[in-house]
Amino acid sequence: MTTDLQGRPLRMAMVGGGQGSFIGPVHKMGASIGAGIELVAGVFNGDRERSLASARNFGVSADRCYADAAEMFAAEAAREDGIDMVAIATPNHLHLPIALAAIEAGVHIMSDKPATATLAEALRLRDALAGGDVLYALTYSYSAYPMIREARARVAAGAIGTVRKVVVTYHQGWMSKPLEAGDPRAAWRTDPGKSGVGGASADIGVHAFHLAEFVSGQRVTELVADARGLVPGRALDDDCNVLLRFAEGQAGVLVVSQVAFGEGNGISIKIYGDAGALHWTFEQADALIHARADGSVETVKAMSPGILVRTPLPIGMGVGLIAPFAVLYRDFDAAIRGDTTRIGTVLPGIEEGVRGMCFIERVAQNNAAGNGWSVLETPGETAKEVAA
Ligand SMILES: NC(=O)c1ccc[n+]([C@@H]2O[C@H](COP(=O)([O-])OP(=O)(O)OC[C@H]3O[C@@H](n4cnc5c(N)ncnc54)[C@H](O)[C@@H]3O)[C@@H](O)[C@H]2O)c1
Repeated sequence: MTTDLQGRPLRMAMVGGGQGSFIGPVHKMGASIGAGIELVAGVFNGDRERSLASARNFGVSADRCYADAAEMFAAEAAREDGIDMVAIATPNHLHLPIALAAIEAGVHIMSDKPATATLAEALRLRDALAGGDVLYALTYSYSAYPMIREARARVAAGAIGTVRKVVVTYHQGWMSKPLEAGDPRAAWRTDPGKSGVGGASADIGVHAFHLAEFVSGQRVTELVADARGLVPGRALDDDCNVLLRFAEGQAGVLVVSQVAFGEGNGISIKIYGDAGALHWTFEQADALIHARADGSVETVKAMSPGILVRTPLPIGMGVGLIAPFAVLYRDFDAAIRGDTTRIGTVLPGIEEGVRGMCFIERVAQNNAAGNGWSVLETPGETAKEVAA
């Protein structure tokens, strides 16, 4: 790993994210806009020709477009201008092997979610990162919207009193038909060997789960789940309805579906306290609704003093997912340069990754067992720590 970071932009590789992918260009743009990070190498597609074509599109030279991740880490380690970090933007089952190879090579990791395909893999990754120098962050993109950070700060400051209930929903419609045979994006998401134990619960439910804990500042300790494939023949859930209980007894509801015709990317969170409520929705991401016990309703569009969101795209001028990715990459760039205070606080890290995998696995287990509430406890933590 190179250490001469003074006065130069970080150099990044990407695995996955090539031609036809959804999230790859978002990583490249977010890294560039957020922190001037340069995409210089990669393995962009499983297919070599498409990977080379992707490298051309990304402006990466052909000699740094590699056949696989192992070749890439070895070749980049031998260069004076080798990579500092890697973005992982492949289907879920490849997250762990790429992350382990990056750790071995001493390369920092910005991984897309979910952390891995299974909880066991996430725990393995946590062990591999423990005590080492490699930094790891996870792109739970919704946590990086300025108004979500504002909501989290307001809850923490007691602006809605004691939290009573959290309602988080995430609705998409694009998988309402049996697309899996013809659409590569749907194919891996409905394949347990590539997505993991969860379908919609892993793909978008994990975002909703993270948002519920991130904004409320509370840990989910129990859940009951009904997660099913509503499109006939689908191997994994495409619709997932979960009751949550939080550490201090607060109620919660998490409703997620990818078979909701007419829905684009409908993620929202409502959080109710004994002195008010907050409401944020992706469709109006630059506004936060704050209702108070006196009946007044404020539309918040500016950050409160002291809440640091290092966004290069001012509120009101953000673009889709690129703006929050820019915030995440800016925070990670600062961490690599020595300020690691934001990892695990506002910048999700491996612990948040493990939490997400606990959620996905517990939903699948509870749904299969169908016998009431299941405890949601992060392995390696005591029950007391979970409740803290
Ligand atoms: N943070 C977010 O908001 C967000 C949004 C969408 C997707 N994601 C996550 O990003 C990841 C990718 O999702 P997507 O929607 O871009 O998927 P996608 O199917 O659109 O793209 C996957 C890419 O990975 C490439 N790939 C597959 N096998 C590969 C291999 N062996 N080596 C190199 N490249 C390979 C494919 O060729 C393709 O370019 C998933 O883990 C997903 O959960 C996150």
